[in-house]
Amino acid sequence: MKSRIKDTYLPLKAEIVEIMDMTSDIKLFKVKPYRQFLYKPGEFIMLSLWGKGEIPISITSTYGFHKYIELCIRRVGFITSALHLLKPPAKIGIRGPFGNTFPVEKAKGKDVFFFAGGLGIVPLRPLIHNVMNEKSKFKRITLICGSRNPGEILFKDDIDLWQKKGLNIIFGVRKGLQLLIHNIEKKDNSSQRKVGIETGHLNTSKISFKNAYSFICGPPVMIIETMKSLSMMGMNEESIFTSLEAHMKCGVGKCGHCYIDGKYICTDGPIFSYAELKKHRPSY
Ligand SMILES: Cc1cc2nc3c(=O)[nH]c(=O)nc-3n(C[C@H](O)[C@H](O)[C@H](O)COP(=O)(O)OP(=O)(O)OC[C@H]3O[C@@H](n4cnc5c(N)ncnc54)[C@H](O)[C@@H]3O)c2cc1C
Ligand code: FES
Repeated sequence: MKSRIKDTYLPLKAEIVEIMDMTSDIKLFKVKPYRQFLYKPGEFIMLSLWGKGEIPISITSTYGFHKYIELCIRRVGFITSALHLLKPPAKIGIRGPFGNTFPVEKAKGKDVFFFAGGLGIVPLRPLIHNVMNEKSKFKRITLICGSRNPGEILFKDDIDLWQKKGLNIIFGVRKGLQLLIHNIEKKDNSSQRKVGIETGHLNTSKISFKNAYSFICGPPVMIIETMKSLSMMGMNEESIFTSLEAHMKCGVGKCGHCYIDGKYICTDGPIFSYAELKKHRPSY
């Protein structure tokens, strides 16, 4: 596949201008590239730290809104630990942006559900930002957001702002799914076939799961459980999207490290519909 990026393998020099603690093991890095760097929601970069190596990281800022490229990184191993020790100004390299974007155009005029588990809010953040800025083009917009404990919900200021703009928010992915399932049960029991949710969060607005879209990011177990539940509730499997992670080396479909079930996560993804995933792995 021909890359749309000019310097596919050559990292662009960039400077970390600010580092903020988000939780005990997650930091937000504000990065200033040495030349213009365009990107869209869902895309990722290959971040290199000289002498250490290169890792894929999602871009969590919104192009044209945030001054710098923002990266939210959990300390899990060799390179992420080295990144957490940096102090601004520090130099890094960035390649990309790589990968596909969330097909949000398709969701216009429909109800939209975002499911974010822990760090899963990172790739969804610029997407939610854009959707909230064009709120009138969508119907009901709901964020179902969970984390290991309430203190670890990321980007609370953004969530408050989106809520002020009309976003429905449910904290707790499992609770969110239960509320939605309850909604379906209510629909089935209703002689008038009305769809409504009995909670303060979602009131009684009508939601058609058949026509709704969902965007899910989080730990693999949460993603699979949520995709299955939404499908069981009647959501079209082509309208359920998630962003997958895999070990990556090149980011451009050459090394084969991210090849799973006939797909390169770096170039065919990282965003896939549930229908696509099931085609390649029916056990999903
Ligand atoms: C498209 C994409 C976007 C990503 N976005 C982000 C992001 O925004 N923020 C963030 O913190 N992380 C993100 N990741 C994950 C990140 O790339 C890994 O955490 C990182 O590569 C770990 O590097 P390390 O050298 O610190 O860990 P290593 O020393 O290589 O490994 C430490 C441990 O983590 C495991 N591990 C390493 N990479 C992955 C992986 N990709 N998936 C699952 N387990 C892994 C290893 O098996 C090992 O157990 C993303 C991954 C992908 C593929
Ligand atoms: S990371 Fe090399 S092929 Fe995907």
